[in-house]
Amino acid sequence: MTLDSEHSCNCLNFSFFLNKQLNKVFYPNLIFIFFILFFIQPSFADPFSSGDVALGENLHNQNCKTCHDGMVPGGDGNELYLSELRVISTSSKLISQVEFCANQNGLTWFEEEIESVSKYLNDNFYNFSD
Ligand code: HEC
Repeated sequence: MTLDSEHSCNCLNFSFFLNKQLNKVFYPNLIFIFFILFFIQPSFADPFSSGDVALGENLHNQNCKTCHDGMVPGGDGNELYLSELRVISTSSKLISQVEFCANQNGLTWFEEEIESVSKYLNDNFYNFSD
């Protein structure tokens, strides 16, 4: 009987100790992990993470802009991408449209070029996150 109560008393002490350790070690680490995830989250949120924005901007301004410029009253074709005029509503539609317009205009672009122009357009105008 004496042994038994001593035993359960030790158990209680031990779980109390464990709880204290949990509070001291586990929870702060958990908060730290959430903190890290919060900061790396934007890199997951970019649907065109492999594109090169500078290359995309060059390609776009050399091959695409003039025709779009002629389509809007003010003469700035980039207005086509703004929310008031845009038709494209998702990142996958954006990449398809870039590919479509490139093909229509006889450009034989590699995947990398299509991705880069899509990234340039997304970063500067569309801002789709997935
Ligand atoms: C000869 C004219 C012409 C050229 C050159 C051209 N486009 Fe277009 N583009 C259009 C027309 C017309 C539309 C709108 C009608 C449509 O969706 O087909 C359009 C629409 C778009 C849209 C959708 C805009 C929206 O509503 O959100 C994107 C994106 C786009 N073009 C990208 C490109 C890219 C990238 C290039 C260069 C590879 C390019 N275009 C070259 C004529 C052109």
